[in-house]
Amino acid sequence: MAQQDDVFKKIVSHAKEYGFVFPSSEIYDGLSAVYDYGQNGVELKNNIKRYWWDSMTLLHDNIVGIDSAIFMHPTIWKASGHVDAFNDPLIDNKDSKKRYRADVLIEEQIAKIEDKIAKEVAKAAKRFGDSFDEAQFRATNGRVLEQQAKRDALHERYSKAMNDNNLEELRQIIIDEEIACPISGTRNWTEVRQFNLMFKTEMGSTADGSMSVYLRPETAQGIFVNYLNVQKTGRMRIPFGIAQIGKAFRNEIVARQFIFRMREFEQMEMQFFVRPGEEIGWFKQWKEWRLKWHKALGLGDNKYRFHDHEKLAHYANAATDIEFEMPFGFKEVEGIHSRTNFDLSQHQKFSGKKIEYFDPELNQSYTPYVIETSIGVDRMFLSVLCSSYEEEALPNGETRVVLHLPAPLAPVKCAVLPLVRKDGLPEKAREIVDDLKFDFATHYEEKDAIGKRYRRQDAIGTPFCITVDHQTLEDNTVTLRERDSMQQERVAIADLHKLIHDKVSLPSLLRKLK
Ligand code: GAP
Repeated sequence: MAQQDDVFKKIVSHAKEYGFVFPSSEIYDGLSAVYDYGQNGVELKNNIKRYWWDSMTLLHDNIVGIDSAIFMHPTIWKASGHVDAFNDPLIDNKDSKKRYRADVLIEEQIAKIEDKIAKEVAKAAKRFGDSFDEAQFRATNGRVLEQQAKRDALHERYSKAMNDNNLEELRQIIIDEEIACPISGTRNWTEVRQFNLMFKTEMGSTADGSMSVYLRPETAQGIFVNYLNVQKTGRMRIPFGIAQIGKAFRNEIVARQFIFRMREFEQMEMQFFVRPGEEIGWFKQWKEWRLKWHKALGLGDNKYRFHDHEKLAHYANAATDIEFEMPFGFKEVEGIHSRTNFDLSQHQKFSGKKIEYFDPELNQSYTPYVIETSIGVDRMFLSVLCSSYEEEALPNGETRVVLHLPAPLAPVKCAVLPLVRKDGLPEKAREIVDDLKFDFATHYEEKDAIGKRYRRQDAIGTPFCITVDHQTLEDNTVTLRERDSMQQERVAIADLHKLIHDKVSLPSLLRKLK
């Protein structure tokens, strides 16, 4: 675990050093849980968004996109349930004055017990070697059984308290489990209170005429309230989807793990409207399609798992998360939810406008059911970054830091490097840049020795380096170096476009989704 922590720290500092992610407002000592994307980060982020957007709107002829405003009528958040129920239970430690999520403190306690069990199992596996039977060991070992019983009892008590929204019980669990504040080390806790995660601000210039509005905590509601507009103007027939990418804001109490949990972040959401009764089939279909989208990136099929929800929100009849193995464990990157007709019905009720679809095949009207796929851009960015980062030991004893980014997502696709800064090589290199730049993000670099320049491009994940040398002037060939294998081949300048395009183009990635 400590080793994983070290790797994660290195990734965070690499992200800063190479212009991917900066802490927000850094010269003013930063703003907690808010980050800025730098010159390479914004390109990687845009490429992720483009991959998602095209996979939705180009590959499905029944999905269209919108871009709704961040500010929306405040009643929308009443209708959606966010005003009353978008809360986290918080607790303060009176000595350190630090604020925690009560549920997170208890979940961490459960994780500690699970860790103890995992250590016992690992120790035994080492002792018994190939003959080790893990299932049997877990079912018979006294220490493991004792810890497992403790974990299950705590989990059950915690789940019940959360289901019943019993804040006193949550506090009592923290007291009974003797959970201490990591800063002060004391157990001097306040009561547990509900804390609404929405940011509120005022719209309008006069005190009397102003109205409280919220920064949207999800983009989905912008889709629901435009359902009729899009359905009518696009003459959409069910089943159809509406996709949107945009900022969302949540006043997270515990904002940690770099860009994993932020107060301002970006979502890519798609609401797929279906006939009532057909939603579970579509839910399964979207689970399959979304996992395929992730796996096509080649980050490692074993890094994904579904986490099906046992406890469902009252309006959902199926829900799952796609989790990705980050350096700090498997974590949710995307949620897929079958949300029934809850949201559209609520908006119908609160707005007084009829929100229905006339199904010509059934010759009847109904409020459509919805399958939602919701993925965090920043979490996707983090999973791509973490799984691409490698400190590679080279045969000559050196180490190179390389980002094995999926080529279509890389911020820079190719770098053109004159071997020396004289003899007409820079001019020839510039000519190549001027040709390639219309199709690919192309860098020109002439400073430092060629090896150093290769390393810099490896560190930002550039798939190809093109070196211009004296032979280039004679026969119009260059060396093309591939990032991962570091193989170099002599190729004609005239062939560069095709060679690069085959590897880096987004359509080549999208074709894998067929
Ligand atoms: N409309 C459904 C919805 O918003 P959610 O599970 O709350 O569902 C969807 O959020 C996705 O948004 C998550 O899977 C995650 O990737 C991302 N997300 C949520 N909160 C986030 C935060 N504070 N920072 C970064 N990403 C976040």
